[in-house]
Amino acid sequence: MSPKATLCSVDIFLLVLLAINAIHSVASSEESKNSINTPPDIARYDNYRVYHVELGTAQHVDLFQELEEKSDSCTFYGHARHPQQKLTIMVAAHKVADFADLLRTYNVTHEVLSYNFQEIIDRNLQEVRPKDIEPKAMDWKHYFQLDTIYAWMELLAQQNPQDITLLNMGESAQGLPIKGVQLRRNKNETATTIFIESGIHAREWIAPATANYIINMLLTTNEPEIVKYANEYNWIVFPVMNPDGYTYTFNGDRMWRKNRELFGICRGVDLNRNYPFHWNTTGTSGDPCRYDYAGPAAGSEVETKRLIQFLRDNVAINNTIKTFISLHSYSQMIMFPYGHTAVRVDNYNDLTEIGRKASEKIKQLTGRIYKSGSIYETIYPSSGGSKDWAHGVLGIPITYSFELRGPPDSKELFILPAEEIEPTAQEAFAAILTIVEESNLRGYYN
Ligand SMILES: *[C@@H]1O[C@H](CO)[C@@H](O)[C@H](O)[C@H]1NC(C)=O
Ligand SMILES: *[C@@H]1O[C@H](CO)[C@@H](O)[C@H](O)[C@H]1NC(C)=O
Ligand SMILES: *[C@@H]1O[C@H](CO)[C@@H](O)[C@H](O)[C@H]1NC(C)=O
Ligand SMILES: *[C@@H]1O[C@H](CO)[C@@H](O)[C@H](O)[C@H]1NC(C)=O
Ligand SMILES: [Zn+2]
Repeated sequence: MSPKATLCSVDIFLLVLLAINAIHSVASSEESKNSINTPPDIARYDNYRVYHVELGTAQHVDLFQELEEKSDSCTFYGHARHPQQKLTIMVAAHKVADFADLLRTYNVTHEVLSYNFQEIIDRNLQEVRPKDIEPKAMDWKHYFQLDTIYAWMELLAQQNPQDITLLNMGESAQGLPIKGVQLRRNKNETATTIFIESGIHAREWIAPATANYIINMLLTTNEPEIVKYANEYNWIVFPVMNPDGYTYTFNGDRMWRKNRELFGICRGVDLNRNYPFHWNTTGTSGDPCRYDYAGPAAGSEVETKRLIQFLRDNVAINNTIKTFISLHSYSQMIMFPYGHTAVRVDNYNDLTEIGRKASEKIKQLTGRIYKSGSIYETIYPSSGGSKDWAHGVLGIPITYSFELRGPPDSKELFILPAEEIEPTAQEAFAAILTIVEESNLRGYYN
């Protein structure tokens, strides 16, 4: 018994050793597996659906207002306001059955624009160039990251020191520079300045891409019709007004809109609701977790302050900025102030007429239909937008914001395929030149 017992205990000892060893190797292979296979912290939209609904009745309006208020799983693009309104809503995968049931129960007319939004994002990510690509690789067939856009602007300034000056408004909330370029061939200090800002909303990638296209065209084109505008006017372009948000759309959430300021459990102010002019009065939210959060106070955000200071310095000193353009997407619209009220601006008739000519120009060029009119009348009431401030406070007479492609019922929402960058930028640029030409004819630049 005793030798057997001894043998046995040796066996047990060996077994225990083996077991410890085995556990150890499982644990370490688990560890190495994790470090290889842990998915990145990037938002995914697998099987998320995009619905286009039509609110047929007042009851539908009430229902969808309540739904937006209560549901974290339905992302609204616009708010429910009135019957006959069409609304785009993204529904999280786990809520698809509930949402479909709601539509059936209340007979809501609708269409499914996309059954799996992640596919659209995945396709889009194929069109992004790596962020360390050399700046001369810039083109209008891909989307580019912040580093590349900035490196490219620096390259332009180096190669064209007579024409191009690199500008920097200062740092964003997270310490990234807000860079732009000035193209000044007309050295007369009284030359009219056209100011263009884009990328206030992070996910609207077509806006920075269009701004870059415009910089490039102004600088390099030989078409006499365009050269004329490049030579006569002073152009200032800031392609990415929200560099923190833009960066986050590449390394966090492709659908991010706001800046990245921290408010407890949520982040971000909608920078196009933050400007200090009838701030937080309509079409905004007081909740930092919402996509249209107006911020804790009027003009609270660093990025807002930078733009305000830049425009004040430049307009106040030489009073040459006579036209202000803001680029957004999507919906195909060309809009002028105001957004917070139906009350008409002093030069409403001119702005209406100029906007109409700009959208006619696009129709001739590419056949696309862009609706034009005041923000309040054309898209939806909203307050605190940059162009309302530029017009209402700073007194810049000609201010427009563009909603670029796609159409209002686009199934891709903000994810415009890269093959549409060039035609979108072409038509927007042609419309901007029309705005400049018409404003000049009407004496705004004298
Ligand atoms: C939905 O339509 C059906 C058939 O037209 C009708 O019987 C039902 O009462 C409607 N439901 C609501 C909530 O309007
Ligand atoms: C600058 O432009 C103004 C207004 O067009 C003109 O009166 C002035 O002569 C110009 N100055 C020069 C140096 O060309
Ligand atoms: C902004 O407006 C909302 C809705 O009216 C309100 O709840 C919120 O308190 C306002 N924010 C501030 C800072 O006044
Ligand atoms: C404004 O004018 C002053 C002199 O009149 C000039 O030195 C300065 O560069 C001008 N500023 C801009 C932004 O053009
Ligand atoms: Zn926008």
